[in-house]
Amino acid sequence: MTPVEQIKEKLSIVDVVSSYVKLEKAGLYFKARCPFHNEKTPSFFVSPQRGSYHCFGCGRGGDIFSFVQEIEGAEFKEALKTLAERAGVKLQSFSKENRPDDTLYRVMEEAASFYEKNLSQSARDYLKARGLTDETIKEFRLGYTRSGWSVLYDHLKSAGFDDTAIERAGLASRGKSGFFDRFRDRIMFPITDASGRVIAFTGRTFSPDGKAPEDAAKYVNSPETPLYNKSQVLYGYDKAKRDIMKENFCVVVEGQMDLIMAHQAGTKNSVAVSGTALSEQHLRLIKRFTDRIAFSFDSDSAGVSASKRGIDIALSQGFDVSAISVPESKDPADCIKENPELWHNAVQARVHIITFLLSAFRSVHQEESAFRRAVEKEIIPYLSYIASPIERGHFIHEISSALGISEKHVEEALGKYDKTKGAPPALGAQTETPPDSKAQTPRRRAEMNALGFILWQTEKDKGLESAAAIRREFEHIAGATPEAFAKNNFNEKEIEDAIFQAEILYANTESLQESISKELLLALEQSNLEERFQKLLSELKRAEQDKDQVRAIDIVGECQKISRRLEEIKSSRHRNL
Ligand code: UTP
Ligand code: MN
Repeated sequence: MTPVEQIKEKLSIVDVVSSYVKLEKAGLYFKARCPFHNEKTPSFFVSPQRGSYHCFGCGRGGDIFSFVQEIEGAEFKEALKTLAERAGVKLQSFSKENRPDDTLYRVMEEAASFYEKNLSQSARDYLKARGLTDETIKEFRLGYTRSGWSVLYDHLKSAGFDDTAIERAGLASRGKSGFFDRFRDRIMFPITDASGRVIAFTGRTFSPDGKAPEDAAKYVNSPETPLYNKSQVLYGYDKAKRDIMKENFCVVVEGQMDLIMAHQAGTKNSVAVSGTALSEQHLRLIKRFTDRIAFSFDSDSAGVSASKRGIDIALSQGFDVSAISVPESKDPADCIKENPELWHNAVQARVHIITFLLSAFRSVHQEESAFRRAVEKEIIPYLSYIASPIERGHFIHEISSALGISEKHVEEALGKYDKTKGAPPALGAQTETPPDSKAQTPRRRAEMNALGFILWQTEKDKGLESAAAIRREFEHIAGATPEAFAKNNFNEKEIEDAIFQAEILYANTESLQESISKELLLALEQSNLEERFQKLLSELKRAEQDKDQVRAIDIVGECQKISRRLEEIKSSRHRNL
């Protein structure tokens, strides 16, 4: 048995899916609201027998592997690893040297639960005074480490970890008189990777007596370790990614507190950069799920220049970038604590980054000439990233009215910029293809619908004759047996999905099955003929150009035959309905 088969044998689709989605039993199946798109009524089905899922809303479907890939935004290899771990199946290629160091994950997990257990009453009181609820504290696994040189180190040693692991995890360093902890007397925020494993920490100053040492940095982060690369990790990403996908939109805030409060207020599609600049890799993580992003800014506009690089990269990667202006120069955490409605309204009222910058510059620059220069230097270059000519035109108009000049001059400035700098580097824009870019032509859809139905019927009455008629019909239209045709034109996942779709759609329609099969075959024949018809039309054009009368007459004859047949099909499909 291959590892994939072993894993499938051990893990049911229901187990895997239900750790992400609340499933409801519905006859032979389970139903849920689709985790991949926003919907009010469930159209997402899971079949334990088949080991597969299918959504009638967004068309996604597949097995445990594709499910984990889609929901985690992971490569097949990553999904395989995750599921193998869960199933307790050993993967040859990941054993020994290829496997990431499991010890480091374990030591981080031990530290996280130690900090969590040590969250003192006064630290909890502080967090609650900041507006956090007990559930939020638990969800984000906030903790505390009291002062003392080696509180954590001693604990980890007694839990059986060795010096090397503790040091490599960035939790303690070797000093002259032994090891000392990196974090002391701080509120601890675990930082997790995309699948929720603890890989680093942030500690915020906190003293039970309320007096943190003046000189201490407010926030201290883990150093870079084999597990932690700060330009590749977004705080809160593991908790946000499903909502980012569902909302097709991502909110980026600055700090840990902002992120936690945003989630608590229900803006679960938020992530935080926490103390570093937004990097290309950060944006790529977001791009897995959406290409719409909003940065939140305190309205003092100091944040704007700090985020300049991030805005630049996001625009050049083809993101639709907007700005959330948090009222009264507060950060999101303080705003939400005061009144979550204010925050929600600000998110709702977000505007395109260009519109935002225009009004931000307007209020910063008193002098008209300084305003003009800032617009020319800082905003106009962004126009070249906007792919849609219509949208671009919209902003050219907006800028020209803000400056009180004609659009022609804005275009000229843009052109100059384009010439001196060349075309903007489309960093990720061309390399990244959206996840569902497989072209679904009407013909392919018709083929899949028919195949799904026939293969389902075939599998249902193994050895019986009732599927034989429809199989013969299919062969007649498609020129191959359903199995051969499927194999040549679709991959296994697509076929599995088509069969499952047929089963769900038609399982309770025994008496109608004959008319269903007729309908599906007619649909298939129709789309075949329509495609053929289009081809003939272009051949006809060529024949006419070549003055090939004989050929042209042949083609016209065939076209007439096809359109007669199409008429027949259409009227009989109409009757079937
Ligand atoms: P702020 O100083 O605005 O902190 O820094 P904050 O988020 O409002 O924190 P609270 O509300 O006082 O608890 C913004 C972000 O910059 C990073 C942190 O991620 C912080 O959330 N930062 C700040 C550091 O990494 N180190 C620091 O010393 C300060
Ligand atoms: Mn703050």
